[in-house]
Amino acid sequence: MELFKKTIAAKLSPLLDGISEEEVLALLEYPPDNTMGDISLPCFKLSKRLRKSPAAIADELEAGIQGRDEKPGEIARTSSVSGYLNFYLDPAVIGDQVISGILSSGDRYGSQNIGKGKTIVIDFSSPNIAKPFHVGHLRSTVIGNALYQIFSFLGYTCIGVNHLGDWGTQFGKLITAYRMWGDPKRLEEGAIDELLSLYVRFHEEADKNPGLDDEARSWFTKIEQGNPEALKIWREFVELSLAEFEKIYDLLGIRFDHVTGESFYNDKLEPVIRELKQKELLEEDGGAWLVRLEDYDMAPALMLKQDGSSLYHTRDVAAALYRKSAYQFHKAVYVTDYSQSLHFRQWFKVVELMGYEWAEDLVHVPFGRVSLEGASLSTRKGNVVKLENLLHQAVSKIRDIIEQKNPGLKSKEEVARQVGVGAVIFNDLSANRIKDIVFSWEDALSFEGETGPYVQYTYARACSVLRKAVGEAGRKTAAAPGQFLDFNSSLVTGEAEFALVKQLSLFTERVEQAATKMEPSMVTRYLVDTAQAFNRFYHDCPILVEDSDLRTARLALVEGVRITLRNGLKLIGLQAPEEM
Ligand code: ARG
Repeated sequence: MELFKKTIAAKLSPLLDGISEEEVLALLEYPPDNTMGDISLPCFKLSKRLRKSPAAIADELEAGIQGRDEKPGEIARTSSVSGYLNFYLDPAVIGDQVISGILSSGDRYGSQNIGKGKTIVIDFSSPNIAKPFHVGHLRSTVIGNALYQIFSFLGYTCIGVNHLGDWGTQFGKLITAYRMWGDPKRLEEGAIDELLSLYVRFHEEADKNPGLDDEARSWFTKIEQGNPEALKIWREFVELSLAEFEKIYDLLGIRFDHVTGESFYNDKLEPVIRELKQKELLEEDGGAWLVRLEDYDMAPALMLKQDGSSLYHTRDVAAALYRKSAYQFHKAVYVTDYSQSLHFRQWFKVVELMGYEWAEDLVHVPFGRVSLEGASLSTRKGNVVKLENLLHQAVSKIRDIIEQKNPGLKSKEEVARQVGVGAVIFNDLSANRIKDIVFSWEDALSFEGETGPYVQYTYARACSVLRKAVGEAGRKTAAAPGQFLDFNSSLVTGEAEFALVKQLSLFTERVEQAATKMEPSMVTRYLVDTAQAFNRFYHDCPILVEDSDLRTARLALVEGVRITLRNGLKLIGLQAPEEM
């Protein structure tokens, strides 16, 4: 669609005194319904500059294009209506360009090269060791992964980093609790559950006995100083927790390029502190060291505590310096909920004050918080939805549905996993990321309406039509590269067909917008709209008809849908099973 907009802008700009093609392009819009054309130029904004009424501008432009006597192209006709110049595209010309384009690009349809030679570091998921991986972390994981896929599709080199929370004073608390009430066997079996109950117990007991906090602090100092007993226990906590996280990443089908937690930067903190001191940014405050940020209306960023231990800020600054030198990133992106916005603004400012121009390439991508029907998802109270349970429930629910509806399906278990997990991911990526979510089991496990299973089912339906058309014999996949390229586009110009073609043609620009806004929900929304457009077409237009030309043309369109849905699903981290 963007291409057709460009064609129109190129035609109009010479007729508009001093108004560039880019300016016209930016004004062009898609009318809310197709009785007003497929692309439209509202002339109101031009009115002042051209000193004419919008209606007069639209009229003159229309006359101008017609006067130029061109051979028939994408534009079938125009209409000038109350200040709008509406363009009606020619369904056969557009259908030919769009469908051929998709069929010949295949897996690459929607991709671009705009990121060539640029690296984006994406810091995402980053759960905390010894704490459950909850639905809040799920959001970071699926948003981060979608951004990774989307930017890669646009030609960027992406580096996914899991910045595990594997360091900090909580480990002092855990070691204290473990030594008092823990048991190696229970730890082995219960892993994070056991660590969580130790953590909860620590806080209960510390409310009564403040001495425990001192002991916790001293254990943390011991880990920081490399005390062997402390380190051994810490390492065990890390390994047990990671093993649990891995199970979730496997289920989700998500990988990282680097799993480098906060402890990875232990030997990179000292130089940062030294540099901050050298640059006279660090100020002592009752034994602690901080960077003042009043001038920027922010609380100071604490870099060292009184006891000399480092903070979350300190590690983020060290990590950014490391990542810049290791990857020469174009952008470094951090995906967390918005409650950490201040944290990121503070330390981004510290990097800027250190004199690094690339501080402006650090980007926080915040998302809304997840609450659990009124309660907050606080680890301290042990009030958490465990993601692994959620995923398993989704898979088993889909398994039951398959048993009922399609018991003969091959690789049932695999499909149940792809669709169940997909439902959870899709649900998470449905609304704008910044919106808060009140988590409900019911919503997360609902497969009605605009959901992942609906889009996947539509994809499987397209595959099934194609399989039937080409005959099952000897074919493993529904993919038919180039098979329908020789089609007559003037046969797929009906209303539902043209609506579908236009919908397919929007894919490239939607993906690009999703990247610009760092908003994967734009792809999710696009997939639902595309599935709906396909289902309308499927309902209105019989595909496997006698007339072989009509059949080929409609199959070409179905193949276009198959490719687009598949590419889109992949961008948001969903699998596309061919049967379900
Ligand atoms: N571990 C943190 C949490 O669970 C998120 C870390 C985000 N990444 C970063 N570089 N600060 O809240």
